[in-house]
Amino acid sequence: MNSATAPHPDSPAAGALPAPTPAPALHRTLDPSDWATHRRLGHRMIDDMVDFWAGARSRPTWQKPGDDVRASLRTPLAAGGQSPESVYEEFRRDILPYPTGNIHPRFWSHVIGTGTAMGAFGDFLAASMNCNVFGGEQVGSLVENQVLGWLGEMLGFPATASGLLLSGGSMANLLGLCVALRCHAGPALRTEGLCSQPRRFRFYASTETHNCLDKTAELLGLGRSALRHVAVDQDFRLSLPALEQAIAEDRAAGWVPFCVVGNAITVGTGAIDPLAEIAAVCGREGLWFHVDGAIGALARITPELHPALDAVRLADSVAFDLHKWLHIPYESGCLMVREGHRHREAFANTTAYLAALEGGLSSGDRWPNQLGPELSRGFKALKVWLSLKEQGRQAFAEAMSANLAQAAHLVALLGRHADLELMATAPANIVNFRFHPAALTAESELEALNRRILIELHESGHSVPSHNRIHGRFTLRVAITNHRTRPEDLESLVEEVRRLGQRPSAVPIR
Ligand SMILES: Cc1ncc(COP(=O)(O)O)c(C=O)c1O
Repeated sequence: MNSATAPHPDSPAAGALPAPTPAPALHRTLDPSDWATHRRLGHRMIDDMVDFWAGARSRPTWQKPGDDVRASLRTPLAAGGQSPESVYEEFRRDILPYPTGNIHPRFWSHVIGTGTAMGAFGDFLAASMNCNVFGGEQVGSLVENQVLGWLGEMLGFPATASGLLLSGGSMANLLGLCVALRCHAGPALRTEGLCSQPRRFRFYASTETHNCLDKTAELLGLGRSALRHVAVDQDFRLSLPALEQAIAEDRAAGWVPFCVVGNAITVGTGAIDPLAEIAAVCGREGLWFHVDGAIGALARITPELHPALDAVRLADSVAFDLHKWLHIPYESGCLMVREGHRHREAFANTTAYLAALEGGLSSGDRWPNQLGPELSRGFKALKVWLSLKEQGRQAFAEAMSANLAQAAHLVALLGRHADLELMATAPANIVNFRFHPAALTAESELEALNRRILIELHESGHSVPSHNRIHGRFTLRVAITNHRTRPEDLESLVEEVRRLGQRPSAVPIR
């Protein structure tokens, strides 16, 4: 016997029979043996979460998870389970106190919605039903269709539009551009890929456009250079002469322009591109008009922004988020395509086990998996349906209008203090400013001071604005998509920024 065939020291002695493997049980449910515990625990969770929402203002806006939390979230998974009550206690201790902070009234970072109670219940109810909204004859598809109809009306889209709920604006922009490209290039793109195309494609968006459009260019296989960033005017809106010149130059150089992206509220300063004029350029040039309305498309329903956003309805496709200014709990984004058949043609596919039948679950006329890359999809529409029905369209419009008024209030407050500098016009809900005492002129020192102010605001729990760079200068950025903010929260922010900035220790020694 050579070493390759010698029994391992731990194996049964030669000739002995191996211990029989126990036959798998014929039934092993993951249900509890006693539902009473889960009923009790579920009631307690709801009580705790209602207290959590109602008490948000009394807690720090943000706090950092400590080393103890990090350690307890790096443990190996045990083979055996533990009681649901003890798991929940760990959640309360190690997880619940450390959210992003966006349920708090003084959270104004990035562009992140506050959430709604009904939306949170919706996630629970959807998970309880555990629908897979891939298609077929099921209520999940009907609810999604209903919600898409309401959203389409807010955008001014016709009833023949098609839509899809997605995880967020990045996915919605990616799929919108995918539809645009597939429409422009024709069916060979789907079968043969980009190598079927004799020339390179290009699309256009302002220099203020969200970087998810760069990711889109990469993910579509076009390469980042396929997105040509067009200059903006002094108010950070796409410049039409620059757009027209870019398209003409690219055609002359052999590129194939296929799409222009208009911004319905930019992430940096809240600018709204001249959407009607971009639509006209697209019409003349035979280009797809896509709107990145992640923040602003739905603000079309506010009286303040309707004039600037009305032309969203002219877009061929619109990407927008419901987890931003509609406050639906994460994740919730949407793509709408004005001519529904183009959306369907862009993603239609077949396979035997998903083919529609004349009855049963596999019937039904809406198959969301035919409208995008995902097959399995959660019941995202339920939280949207519950929230929209509970609040009605008007409450959402009023909450957005209040945020717009709050941004204007903040700009007015800044104007009262010589040591606060507004860094860009604020046409919507995003305000950029910095603390700028007269004695300090060096940009590097101003940046160091404002970075420290921002970090202290976060780490003290006072409030969570974010930061930005305008013309190369570091700014404190306040993006108000928060239905809990009150004017006094912004007044407190101004006071706190000045207090932190004016401390003797705050001014860098020169
Ligand atoms: C203008 C804009 N577009 C797209 C996105 C990406 O959206 P999401 O974070 O939902 O993927 C954002 C995110 O803030 C945004 O502000």
